[in-house]
Amino acid sequence: MELKELGKTGVMIPEIGLGTWRYRGGVEPLQKGIELGATLIDTAEGYYTEDVVGEAIKGVREKIFIATKVSGRHLGHDEVLRSCEQSLYELGTDYIDLYQVHWPNPSYPIKGTMDAMGKLADRGFIRFIGVSNFEIEETEEAQACLNNHKIVANQVRYNLNDRTIERDLLPYCEERGITVLAYTPLDDGNLTTMPRVMGKGKMSVLKEIAEETNKTMGQVALNWCNSRSNVVVIPKSNSITRTIENCGASGWRLTDEQVARLDEAF
Ligand SMILES: NC(=O)c1ccc[n+]([C@@H]2O[C@H](COP(=O)([O-])OP(=O)(O)OC[C@H]3O[C@@H](n4cnc5c(N)ncnc54)[C@H](OP(=O)(O)O)[C@@H]3O)[C@@H](O)[C@H]2O)c1
Repeated sequence: MELKELGKTGVMIPEIGLGTWRYRGGVEPLQKGIELGATLIDTAEGYYTEDVVGEAIKGVREKIFIATKVSGRHLGHDEVLRSCEQSLYELGTDYIDLYQVHWPNPSYPIKGTMDAMGKLADRGFIRFIGVSNFEIEETEEAQACLNNHKIVANQVRYNLNDRTIERDLLPYCEERGITVLAYTPLDDGNLTTMPRVMGKGKMSVLKEIAEETNKTMGQVALNWCNSRSNVVVIPKSNSITRTIENCGASGWRLTDEQVARLDEAF
């Protein structure tokens, strides 16, 4: 499993993590992923999967990088503190590696939210602060509220079918040393199973490159995301087989020419 630096923290995280939104696989797929080096696990208070993550990491906590999120509906100062406490309880741990603001919510002043995030970091309950679904301006506003801490990650949607962030957010994050945690990196499975939605041309390029590399289309799709230097992916699978497949998207690289062909087709 290849590692990438989280922001400019010096901390290395795997370039393939394990997503857990709508996760129903029990502990085994997560434990298989961990065994294969996918020690970054993404969850959220809103997913109701923190408990299964907690179960899966029992006995190996120190090897795991837990990313969880405070809901966009709990962004008042005291609510953030309470949500974190509840997440720690659900996860069965005394610290969270990356605590992310799940969605920006203009109903809450960002100052109160980020003050609480800063306090949690100062008190050692969270190691790093992240955001999710934040545009550039929102990221800057959030950062401006933090005195002693940096926003090290922004978790946003990124896959071959949705390259919106390439316009400005991705280069912005790259320049500032913010890691992009790419969510829905398989476009919810559509990239491998929906030729009609994707169009024949795109599908045939993906298939062609899968054949050239002797990898699956899913692995090529994940490796393409990871060809961007500051991106790591967090695919979700309920199955052990697909978890093994997804972890196999690391440890090799598409050539520049193959990346360019995919860039061109999608
Ligand atoms: N921050 C946010 O707002 C936000 C939003 C969405 C997602 N996320 C995070 O990102 C994670 C991943 O995103 P996602 O769950 O939306 O979508 P995804 O990972 O792109 O796709 C998951 C779907 O693809 C299937 N799948 C998994 N591996 C596959 C493979 N190798 N080949 C074909 N199909 C495969 C899964 O089915 P099986 O389970 O049956 O294998 C599932 O239906 C989430 O779990 C969550 O942690 C965050």
